[in-house]
Amino acid sequence: MPATIVVGTQWGDEGKGKVIDWLAEKTDLVARFGGGDNAGHTVTVAGERYALHLVPSGILYPGKLCLMGGGMVINPASLLAEMDHLAARGVDVFPERLKLSVKAHLILPYHIALDGAQEAGRGRQALGTTKRGIGPAYSDKSARVGLRAGAMHDPEGFSEKVYQATEDKNAVLTGVYGQSALDAKAVAAQFHDYARRLAPYLADVSLLVSQALAAGQRLLCVGAQGTLLDLDHGTYPFVTSSAPTVGGALLGLGFGPHYVDQVVGLVKAYTTRVGAGPFVTELLDETGDRLRGTGAEPWDEFGTTTGRPRRCGWLDAVILRYAARVNGLTHAALTKLDILGSLETIKIAVAYDYQGQRLEHLPLDAEVLAACQPIYEELPGWSEDISGARAFGELPRAARRYVERVEELLGVPILLIGVGSGREQTIAR
Ligand code: IMP
Repeated sequence: MPATIVVGTQWGDEGKGKVIDWLAEKTDLVARFGGGDNAGHTVTVAGERYALHLVPSGILYPGKLCLMGGGMVINPASLLAEMDHLAARGVDVFPERLKLSVKAHLILPYHIALDGAQEAGRGRQALGTTKRGIGPAYSDKSARVGLRAGAMHDPEGFSEKVYQATEDKNAVLTGVYGQSALDAKAVAAQFHDYARRLAPYLADVSLLVSQALAAGQRLLCVGAQGTLLDLDHGTYPFVTSSAPTVGGALLGLGFGPHYVDQVVGLVKAYTTRVGAGPFVTELLDETGDRLRGTGAEPWDEFGTTTGRPRRCGWLDAVILRYAARVNGLTHAALTKLDILGSLETIKIAVAYDYQGQRLEHLPLDAEVLAACQPIYEELPGWSEDISGARAFGELPRAARRYVERVEELLGVPILLIGVGSGREQTIAR
């Protein structure tokens, strides 16, 4: 069976870029199925660091076909900037290699303005969005007033639609939010230019995927964000507006489940979250700071997209079990194990305490979740530097024990272990 779906099991930032890059070697097509430039996937190849937001990281392997699915929301300015940046670094981003679904929805400047205005309006209840216009763009999609990428086939007609839509939203921006109006003419002219440049990349991604699968080619489906940020299955309302869980792959790319043989959940060796919302194992102490790093290193826990410091805490097995269930995980990949080095002991939450009651399953109400306390299990740490380990047997005993315990709690085998940011710093089991 030729399709593998990769999903985040936590709140995103599990180190997907690197694992996807690793898995991409054995695949023919790499397709991103949802989200937009709120995501940031970091990959280090031969000491060179690439921070990708929209283009699937498979692009760093010559010859792979990379697809951006209909479940995505695309800011054309960000996409073109990313493509230009990759091209300037010698990466081939020609239309033969990179395709954008005609069904993907576009993020316009008014979506970004609305995202900012809505967040400001929420005051202390702000969600902590990335302010990339993600929520407003998906809202327009659901309200059936969005602009799809396919409209860029006709740059003239498209720019008229952009003009009209901007004028319509100007009424909301000024009338409801007291913001200044956008220059609809200038926006339309700019989007005319974007359409001219992006039209050659437009494709029926569902057709391409289905034809490739029927021909026996292998497909890697890449999710952004994580299970707990899923609009339906996440910690609502502190979620993103797309479906980063397994169903989002079929929906966002347009193919059937019988092709899927592997669902790989990405698990960071500890937990992080950016933005607001409950986080049971959050550490507001020195250990939290220690996990976050100072920001001096590229792998430190600061947002790839926004630069915001991430909230850090111990691994949470209640969340992992939940992610294994809602995604039907068949395998997992454990990332950033090296970051746990030199801690005397390491904790894993195995259940929650809610007002004296032991909870084994993730409560679905954000308020209940916020009132839960972690019930920890403690494991010994290790002091050795594991970044040079390339086989499971080369890890110190305590590190192996940690991996095995995570595997046990998660209930699926761990295929890959990341011990550093480099492509080669991976242990395959
Ligand atoms: P939005 O997706 O920009 O609307 O943000 C909604 C929530 O999802 C906020 O808490 C963001 O911090 C979070 N979020 C969105 N994308 C990512 C990501 O790629 N990694 C981690 N958190 C994200």
